[in-house]
Amino acid sequence: MTHSLHFKPYQQFVQEGRKFWKSDLYADVMREAEGKSPGELTGTQALAAYSWFEKNLQQAKYYGPHGLVETFRRNGGLEQDRDFDLEPGEMQAWNDTLPGYYRDTGFHQHNPGVWPSLGDALAYEYATNYFSFSLIAADVPYKRVAEIVADLASELEAPRVMDLGAGYGKLAFAIKRAVPQAVVEGVDLSMPLIKLGQKRTGEMNLDVNLFCHQAEQIDQLGRSFDVITAYWLLHELPQEVTREVVAASYRALAPGGYFVSLDMHRATGGELGEFLQKRHGVANDEPFLEDLLTWDYEKDMAAIGYEDIRLIDPVTRSDFDVDKPLPAERTHEFSVLIGRKPETAK
Ligand SMILES: C[S@@+](CC[C@H](N)C(=O)[O-])C[C@H]1O[C@@H](n2cnc3c(N)ncnc32)[C@H](O)[C@@H]1O
Repeated sequence: MTHSLHFKPYQQFVQEGRKFWKSDLYADVMREAEGKSPGELTGTQALAAYSWFEKNLQQAKYYGPHGLVETFRRNGGLEQDRDFDLEPGEMQAWNDTLPGYYRDTGFHQHNPGVWPSLGDALAYEYATNYFSFSLIAADVPYKRVAEIVADLASELEAPRVMDLGAGYGKLAFAIKRAVPQAVVEGVDLSMPLIKLGQKRTGEMNLDVNLFCHQAEQIDQLGRSFDVITAYWLLHELPQEVTREVVAASYRALAPGGYFVSLDMHRATGGELGEFLQKRHGVANDEPFLEDLLTWDYEKDMAAIGYEDIRLIDPVTRSDFDVDKPLPAERTHEFSVLIGRKPETAK
């Protein structure tokens, strides 16, 4: 570990602030909201404080004096990662192909995103391993999705699995561990994340194939898959691109194959829940979150040809209940969207 001595205490300080935000400040908003429509919250002190902390603590995590992005861009990460870098010519050529909605959009206040440098990829990796918005153990939701994939593919000897927007491979690794006989691949638009993932794959001796590719062109690889996953990808996409991704996935799936997405597809807690979730998109620089919340996935997926379209709770696996009340502490509303390509489809 070679970060400055201040790095860890600073990050812990930010995390403590986030705990205060997700419990005390959120509770103030809930109290203030009683008997009011969400619109009437605008201008209240409770909402102003909640929103200020939501935005600024995330910014502090990345860009404060010992923020993740600043730190990792400055020193290239931890000791064990110093031996590895990117070939600038190769990366530039790839980055020139990136779609505008991706290049021109920040990434939960990590600007301009995870594609410009290795430091950005290392900062993202650190963030996903040590923190989550919900402050739950960061690995748990990945394992849950990997178990869902394992169950969906349980009858296949060696299921072919493709993870879209794989980052540095965190879900792909979890799937390979849950289903060792599976052939697991992952694609992402960020070359730094893919190169980092390839390094991690080697270090862990896991047989997972990660490479740069666009999710909405997954049908252009010339091979088919039994399960295609998207973990925390769809809320990063304009709605029309999400439609392209599910359509391309359908074409790339083998008959009987599944599309599985974990994301914030729907908010719970009625009007207030939706209001807070949309504000989260604005405060946290997630311009396409609202596109996902309002996406009529049932209609679009059915029109493409998917059957058995379900939105489930990843913990209970029962139908995701959009009417359930808001939780006592602010958290992400994870849900898992599943659709199946019919056995009879070509
Ligand atoms: C929130 S991250 C999630 C990464 C990874 N699934 C994880 O859980 O750590 C979204 C990822 O999607 C990638 N991405 C965004 N748009 C993409 C696209 N059109 N095709 C492929 N990857 C994309 C980003 O580069 C980023 O790595």
